[in-house]
Amino acid sequence: MTVSVKQAILERRSIKKFNGQLVEKQAVLQILDDAKWAPNHGNRQPWRVVVATDEKLAQVHELLRDLAIPKWQELSEETLATQMQKFTLAGAYAFVLVTEDMRQKERLEDYAAVSCYLQNAQLLAWEQGIGTCWKTPGFLDNPKFREALQAKENERVIAMFQFGYFDEATPAKPRKELADFVTEFGA
Ligand SMILES: Cc1cc2nc3c(=O)[nH]c(=O)nc-3n(C[C@H](O)[C@H](O)[C@H](O)COP(=O)(O)O)c2cc1C
Repeated sequence: MTVSVKQAILERRSIKKFNGQLVEKQAVLQILDDAKWAPNHGNRQPWRVVVATDEKLAQVHELLRDLAIPKWQELSEETLATQMQKFTLAGAYAFVLVTEDMRQKERLEDYAAVSCYLQNAQLLAWEQGIGTCWKTPGFLDNPKFREALQAKENERVIAMFQFGYFDEATPAKPRKELADFVTEFGA
């Protein structure tokens, strides 16, 4: 499938329900490599990505279960499996970290650059029929999660980024009209 940049931007949706098919490691790595051409000030390339595919997914599911499902041990197997679907149906994971510069301007630039990087990744994946969802669950700053990612003191986890195949895209939420967010200078 070849789509124009405009088509990819307009048609891409965050996928909230994947179908459980695994996403090949090579496809994930290619997307993450191509996405690096994102604009970033000073060529600092302030992103670091921890990838989990294939046999590594079981460890990720276990970690996410511990972090996101309180008292999971008390749930029935069936209830737990249902609750876990939001994690287990994704076909691959990328956990994305940003270097936190001491200087405020640079820190903000770097956060913005990683956002550009991630949007590149979303569009590149979409072009290949692979869905994504950038997630910011409450546990991003949890020490157990940071430890699992070997996050350094000067790194912040910015995204739990899910890749996956899907049967149906989540419908788009309406966007504001142009006139609601663009005004002429001096008007
Ligand atoms: C910074 C950021 C954080 C997000 N965090 C979550 C999240 O925690 N959970 C989630 O379901 N979606 C998350 N999303 C996805 C948005 O909710 C999604 O973009 C929104 O539903 C609009 O849908 P669209 O991407 O299909 O246009 C996040 C998106 C961004 C950019």
